[in-house]
Parts: sequence; structure tokens; C-alpha cells
Amino acid sequence: MLDTHPSRPARASGLHPHLREATRAAHLRTEDAFAPFLRAPVAELGPFLAAQLGAARALHAARDGTPVAEENSLLCDLGDAYENDLREIGHAPLPGNAILAPRPLDTLAVGYLTLGARLGTAVLARALTAAGGTLPRSFTLSAPEGAWRAFRQRLDTHSHDPARSARIVADVVAGFDLHRAAAARAWPHHEDRSP
Ligand code: HEM
Repeated sequence: MLDTHPSRPARASGLHPHLREATRAAHLRTEDAFAPFLRAPVAELGPFLAAQLGAARALHAARDGTPVAEENSLLCDLGDAYENDLREIGHAPLPGNAILAPRPLDTLAVGYLTLGARLGTAVLARALTAAGGTLPRSFTLSAPEGAWRAFRQRLDTHSHDPARSARIVADVVAGFDLHRAAAARAWPHHEDRSP
């Protein structure tokens, strides 16, 4: 949304572009934590699904608020799909206690991670298929057509609420941390090469 208030300079950018930029480094570090899967998608499918399940359950447990319409039940559905996929390939969930967020996470931060990460799943699905693997159901779940665009527009409606915006950014970073913690449990010997 364009900010046309006379006391503020016009800004064409909204909360979504800001959020994307502010969490770019966290995304890169998280990609690196999942690199063992990209290096050997067939062999590492079990640990990958276990890490995704641990992170999905942690996000779900930490959510503060209800999912917005665009996200709907995607996170719950994904959690169930990861669990079924793991069972089907006979791989155990992550060892140890459940991964826990350090605080409740804003539902829009959880929604951003849930819907946004499906974009990356397309890349991971291509890697798995190219390596000769069969796509488990969790790779094929997606939000309805237009949901990501509608969600980004919804984020932008919060652009002028600095406290909420700052919380969403901080909570998205915390959500990426949960994914890295889950990946570190799945691949304990993977060296963190991120800056
Ligand atoms: C090896 C693992 C991963 C790869 C290769 C990857 C790759 C990508 C790619 C290619 C995009 C699309 C960028 C675009 O179209 O503009 C994306 C977006 C995104 N990914 Fe990942 N990703 C990975 C893991 C994750 C994880 C574990 C999360 C955590 C939830 C995550 C969260 C996101 C989010 C939120 C976006 C949307 C960014 C935006 O446009 O605002 N990604 N990812």
C-alpha cells in the first residue's frame, strides 16, 4: 500500500518486502542447515521429513492467534503429512524432546513461514525427482491458488503498525531458528557454514 500521509515520505514498499529483506540472512542460514538433503535427496529424505515435522509441530505449538483464511489448515495438514510420510518410509521422528519456541509467535509470522516455505519446496521437489526419488505427499500439499499473493497483501496492511511489524519480523527469525534447530538434530554432524 502506498503511504500518502503528508507527514510521511511516500513509500511504495510494504511489510512483505521489508520482511523478506529483514529475514534474508536467516533464510540463507536455514537453507544451509538443510543442505545435506539437497546433496543427497534420496538418502536424506528421512532426516529431512523428521526435521520438517519437528519444525512444523514447534511452529504450531507456538502460534499466538488463529491462522488467517489464506493459510487455513495448511500447517496442521503439513504436520500430519510429514508424520504419515515418515511412517511410510519407516523412518523415526527426531530423537529427544519436542523442539520448542522461546515465546509465542505471531500468527502472521507462522503463516509467512508456512506459506512462503512452499515456494522453496518446489526447488526441493525438483531435486528429489531429479535424483530418482518419489515425491511424498508432504511435498505436494499447497495452499489454494492465489493464497500467497493474498497473504502478502494482508501483511502489507500492517505496514503502518510499527510494533506489530517488528514483532512479525522477530518472530519469523525465531521461526527460522526452530527450523535450524530441527535440522541440527536431524544432521548432527553437518557443519554450520553460515556467516
Ligand atoms: C534447502 C532448503 C530451502 C531452499 C532451497 C529454499 C528455497 C527457497 C526459494 C527458491 C524461495 C523462493 C524465492 C522466490 O521465489 O522469490 C524460497 C522462499 C521462501 N522460503 Fe525457502 N528454501 C529452503 C528452506 C526453507 C525453510 C526451511 C523455510 C522455513 C520455513 C523457508 C522459508 C521460506 C519463506 C518464508 C520464503 C518466502 C520468501 C518471500 O518471498 O517472502 N525456506 N525459499
